[in-house]
Amino acid sequence: MNTFKKIALLTAALIATLPLSAKPKIRIIATGGTIAGISTTSASSAYTAGQVGIQTLLDAVPQILDLADVTGEQLVNIGSQDMNDEVWLKLAKRVNQILNEEDYDGVVITHGTDTMEETAYFLNLTVKSDKPVILAGSMRPSNAIGADGPANLYNAVAAAISPACKGLGVLCCMNNQLLDAKTVIKTHTIDCDTFEGGPSGIIGYIFNGQAHILQTPNNKHTEDSVFDVSHLDKLPKVGIVYGYANASPLPMKAFVDAHFDGIVLAGVGDGNFYKDVFDVAVKAQKQGIQIVRSSRCPTGPTCLNSEVDDSKHHFVASLDLNPQKARVLLMLALTKTHDWEEIQKFFMEY
Ligand code: DGL
Repeated sequence: MNTFKKIALLTAALIATLPLSAKPKIRIIATGGTIAGISTTSASSAYTAGQVGIQTLLDAVPQILDLADVTGEQLVNIGSQDMNDEVWLKLAKRVNQILNEEDYDGVVITHGTDTMEETAYFLNLTVKSDKPVILAGSMRPSNAIGADGPANLYNAVAAAISPACKGLGVLCCMNNQLLDAKTVIKTHTIDCDTFEGGPSGIIGYIFNGQAHILQTPNNKHTEDSVFDVSHLDKLPKVGIVYGYANASPLPMKAFVDAHFDGIVLAGVGDGNFYKDVFDVAVKAQKQGIQIVRSSRCPTGPTCLNSEVDDSKHHFVASLDLNPQKARVLLMLALTKTHDWEEIQKFFMEY
């Protein structure tokens, strides 16, 4: 055999040993929600969330396997109105294990939409990786006409394999849009286009399986976060009190009597309290219960030392965080400090 043929055969043998182009490794963690829901009839709105397991979700979208090497696990199977501290802590620890110890390229979490924004923000502050972590859900159950879950799941995997989604913190992927954990909010009770990105808008969108990023978050998150839940088995107790004309102080008093660690007020306007509620808040702060002023208004900041002298009362102003997000940050802040000024700094940074 001449030399040329020997070289050709040797080259072919070498190429045959090269690994096929490996697809990204993506882990899907299922927690329930409407994406796993079953309706009694395909046209009805009556349904139960958290009925379908992860494998059924994956079987409904075989096109996902064109994008990535996808495997899944079922953490819980609940309506997200039942999301709780125990699941949050398990989820954060599991995501960190998958990304930092099991060499996955990204994580997709299927989740109910009711509290998706809270879970996303909690993970934004506790995941220790710059790899994509994408939450996806649906507004219609898995067997409904026009079910939106399969497309949301496919798009979430497309985002999870996208280098453009690295380093953006935790994102939500709904209705072809990518929304960041700090600003994402569910705005409509039943519409598929329910999620919005607050005043700064969406982070990007998914089209034809490609992620297109329009802007990057400017708050601290994931690897830049000081919050670490790896050794925690419970979280501080923080409640939310809703403000309104002639508000009763009883809910605030109940949290004080139950020895909560913090109370967030969904106040009126720029985080203002009815006078009877204000008086209880001042006493609660003096007892060491951290008060955070937020607002029931859907947009706009709750400003520090505006109508309320926060410095005098040692209240914290939630700034750009709505009450449900302010609660998440206050819970984690209280794992680090009870100093109101230190906590206020966290609200300026995260
Ligand atoms: N039970 C609600 C939840 O799991 C349904 C809403 C949904 O997932 O779209 O959040």
